[in-house]
Amino acid sequence: MTKIAIESLEEEPFKDPCPSPYFHYIVDMEIGNLILSGNVFLAPLAGITDTPFRLLAKRYGACLVYTEMVSAEGLSRGNTDSLRLLYFGEEERPIGVQIFGSHPESMAAACRVIERLKPDLIDINFGCPVKKVVQKNGGAALLKNLKLLEKIVTAVSRSTRIPITVKTRSGWDQKNIVALQVAKIAQEGGASAITIHPRTQKDNYSVKADWDIISRVKREISIPVIGSGDIFTPQDAKNMLDSTGCDAVMIGRGALGNPWIFSQIHHFLSYGEILPEPSIEDRIRVCLEHAELSVKEKGEYVGLITMRKHIAWYTMRLPHSRELRQKVFTLETLNEVKQAFEDYLLLPKRECETA
Ligand SMILES: Cc1cc2nc3c(=O)[nH]c(=O)nc-3n(C[C@H](O)[C@H](O)[C@H](O)COP(=O)(O)O)c2cc1C
Repeated sequence: MTKIAIESLEEEPFKDPCPSPYFHYIVDMEIGNLILSGNVFLAPLAGITDTPFRLLAKRYGACLVYTEMVSAEGLSRGNTDSLRLLYFGEEERPIGVQIFGSHPESMAAACRVIERLKPDLIDINFGCPVKKVVQKNGGAALLKNLKLLEKIVTAVSRSTRIPITVKTRSGWDQKNIVALQVAKIAQEGGASAITIHPRTQKDNYSVKADWDIISRVKREISIPVIGSGDIFTPQDAKNMLDSTGCDAVMIGRGALGNPWIFSQIHHFLSYGEILPEPSIEDRIRVCLEHAELSVKEKGEYVGLITMRKHIAWYTMRLPHSRELRQKVFTLETLNEVKQAFEDYLLLPKRECETA
């Protein structure tokens, strides 16, 4: 893949960290037999973390990426949509495949399918709050049934030699916070790491993630703990590492239309400096490269439809972005989209300077 020259932002993750008070923040990590060269990860995001997005996140320094969550039932029945979600290229490694489901046997059967692709880890989803998943007792519904959750962890761990990890919300609701129990079950059942997103199934994103829950789990558990929730800036990443003691941080919404966040975090954790925000030209260049990858992967029609939400995120804070989006969303070819962005960049500079 061709590299885009965004000088100040692109090379930072690979620069030798000089001795500084920040030096200890970026560490190599072991998850089972997997060795990672850093501790800033891209979160699994259903409908979003496909190959093009994962490749961009990796380019800017995400040390681990995940597939979108895949139904274990679907995989064990050979469903083609589920199998398609498993696809990843070698250049995306290290990569985790995330599965959800509620039957230990089909979860184990799914792992045997996944094993053939040799992902670097398999992550079990105990956090999805979405109705169609929890109605079938998957995702966060398992936080109400820890016996079944335990059976799933054990069955999955026994089914494969690939490292198993668990990603959980804090509980079903505020009266039933079970993150620590889940972490202990995961550790005893053979998981090699646990990710905590400290919101309950009932909480929406307007409720702040309760990072204290991550601290509590970290104090009691010996496997690596990955913190997820409300990291939007490099300072947020440092604050989470500092205040919870977690081993790694995972970025979800903060990476939308903003893959640079990984290099910005690396730079801040290495040198204590904030990198400048990418210019409008850089944003558009990367957005268009994302679109190219998307079209290459999914074909022009589906690729451009998939890109609409990403284009909305890339352009969110740009001047006159509403008009730009309205125009771009009517276009049917990548060339037309590129032309629309080129025309946008030709707007008088002063119009591009203020939102
Ligand atoms: C659109 C969207 C899709 C998500 N999909 C998944 C998923 O498939 N699997 C999962 O474990 N978590 C999923 N999550 C949760 C994120 O991985 C993450 O834990 C959560 O958003 C908190 O992190 P953030 O504040 O950095 O976004 C999703 C979140 C969002 C916003």
